[in-house]
Amino acid sequence: MTNNKKLLAWVDEWASLCQPDKVYWCDGSEEENQRLLDEMVASGAATKLNEEKQPGSYAFNSDPSDVARVENRTYICTEKEEDAGPTNNWMAPAEMKAILREKFKGCMKGRTMYVIPFSMGPLGSDIAKIGIEITDSAYVVVNMRIMTRMGQKVLDILGDGDFIPCVHSVGAPLKPGQKDAKWPCAPIEEKYISHFPETQEIWSYGSGYGGNALLGKKCLALRIASYVAKQEGWLAEHMLIMGITNPKGEKKYIAAAFPSACGKTNLAMLIPTIPGWKVETVGDDIAWMKFGADGRLYAINPEAGFFGVAPMTSMETNPNAMLSTKANTIFTNVGVTPDGDIWWEGIGTECPAGTINWKNQPHNPDAGEPVAHPNARFTAPANQCPAIDPEWENPAGVPISAFLFGGRRPSTVPLVYQAKNWNHGVFMGSIVGSEVTAAAIGLKAGVRRDPFAMLPFCGYHMGDYFGHWVNIGKIAPDPAKLPKIFNVNWFRKDENGKWLWPGYGDNMRVLEWIFNACDGTVEPVETPIGFVPNKKDINLSGIESVAENMDELLSVNKEKWLDECALIEEHYAKFGAHLPNELKEEFEILKASLV
Ligand code: OXD
Ligand code: MN
Repeated sequence: MTNNKKLLAWVDEWASLCQPDKVYWCDGSEEENQRLLDEMVASGAATKLNEEKQPGSYAFNSDPSDVARVENRTYICTEKEEDAGPTNNWMAPAEMKAILREKFKGCMKGRTMYVIPFSMGPLGSDIAKIGIEITDSAYVVVNMRIMTRMGQKVLDILGDGDFIPCVHSVGAPLKPGQKDAKWPCAPIEEKYISHFPETQEIWSYGSGYGGNALLGKKCLALRIASYVAKQEGWLAEHMLIMGITNPKGEKKYIAAAFPSACGKTNLAMLIPTIPGWKVETVGDDIAWMKFGADGRLYAINPEAGFFGVAPMTSMETNPNAMLSTKANTIFTNVGVTPDGDIWWEGIGTECPAGTINWKNQPHNPDAGEPVAHPNARFTAPANQCPAIDPEWENPAGVPISAFLFGGRRPSTVPLVYQAKNWNHGVFMGSIVGSEVTAAAIGLKAGVRRDPFAMLPFCGYHMGDYFGHWVNIGKIAPDPAKLPKIFNVNWFRKDENGKWLWPGYGDNMRVLEWIFNACDGTVEPVETPIGFVPNKKDINLSGIESVAENMDELLSVNKEKWLDECALIEEHYAKFGAHLPNELKEEFEILKASLV
């Protein structure tokens, strides 16, 4: 329990507004976790999976209207609209709070209000932050227990200190005697994922799914933390963190930002195809970074679990992810086979007859509907990953040698290139884009710009965020120790639409070049966009047939880059006076070097 007066008063205030039947403080114990899971199985909300195949694991299916993050219902509420910038939905804090207070009034009737104390980052790390989430969803409690350090131990560290208050409700009060839905939630137009960065608060209403409801993740660790990081001079980024060891036993850590659905979890857990190299995982989604006493930038993974996309994950594509989910895992919107195992598209086996799909129906192979929702997820403890890095919980973090940016770019962008200097690297991050197909996400086909992969996650004006990155270069205690910056593109295709690069474990060959480029032991080739590898420096042993693609993979086509510049111009126009001069200059240098 706690004597924290601010916390006790805050919980009381919300309990009187939301009117739950009872208030329960989560201690994070095994016993509590099991009790909540048993209750959800008894109510029909969860399925216990086969204890032999998936020990300690459970499957949930969401409401069909509640399957993903809802970007169009996600708000950054700053006093001035301009401060939220052109890439966020905005509402004034007072206006949003007035709307939401009405919604929260009585919204937990018939339910329990759970109080979840959680730490983003190893307990007691000086980079870590403590949040308290109140929620009326037991599903959120058991997920937060995997994704964060959670329970009484957090209250013990908090003492009478400060915390980030996070309020969540599924927005579905129960009338006396009313039977609960399997997955209660509010209709789309009543969902509000609201952030108040200036007062460091999160109010989320109406959704029970993933990033909308597990408030430590995208809401706190990215949107609120990015704002705080700017004030305090550090970085909160949508980046994986991985350790790479070369055959001599030398180790470097890199952090990499890719838009959603570009294989971040796969890269974080890569199994190298070249002998002697080793990859270990620190995190697969979020990195918080601060300068250490030695002048290097140190990163922690604020999370304690993986909330990964299940479909297409298999023993072929990502064995470490599969093995991470072998026990004590929560699956959401996957198929459940008649013998109580899980199944999804791309898992690598035939779908057993009688499998129940994510809509709770027996799968009909002729109906053309998937068994698992394309955004079906696993929630798995990070310490179950066979490749987890020994330093992953080091409160001081791991020193970062390189940043990688990238997206899906079938043309134009080479396999890998290195920035000429820090500001040029920031320019590279600011123009990250990924090809979208209209069919996939209902967006206009073409390149969707997703600067630093932070488009849906930046808690303030994106132009000011670019400025913050420029500033990190200025405040670095020793600029020579700043991470080197690279852009990678595993997704180049030839004119017939065939992949030019094998990807997956072979991406290690590019990481090898990056590792060596950090040490200055390779001699790169200067081009207008930055340094590309000398062909001979990419290790193709074992995949010799790829040699014929290398010229194309490393080419920088001036015509195509001039077209790209026209698109960058459009993208940059959005940020108006907030676009830093340093990036304007980098853009001018690029254009001049192309003509
Ligand atoms: C995620 C995302 O869920 O980036 O991690 O969308
Ligand atoms: Mn992500």
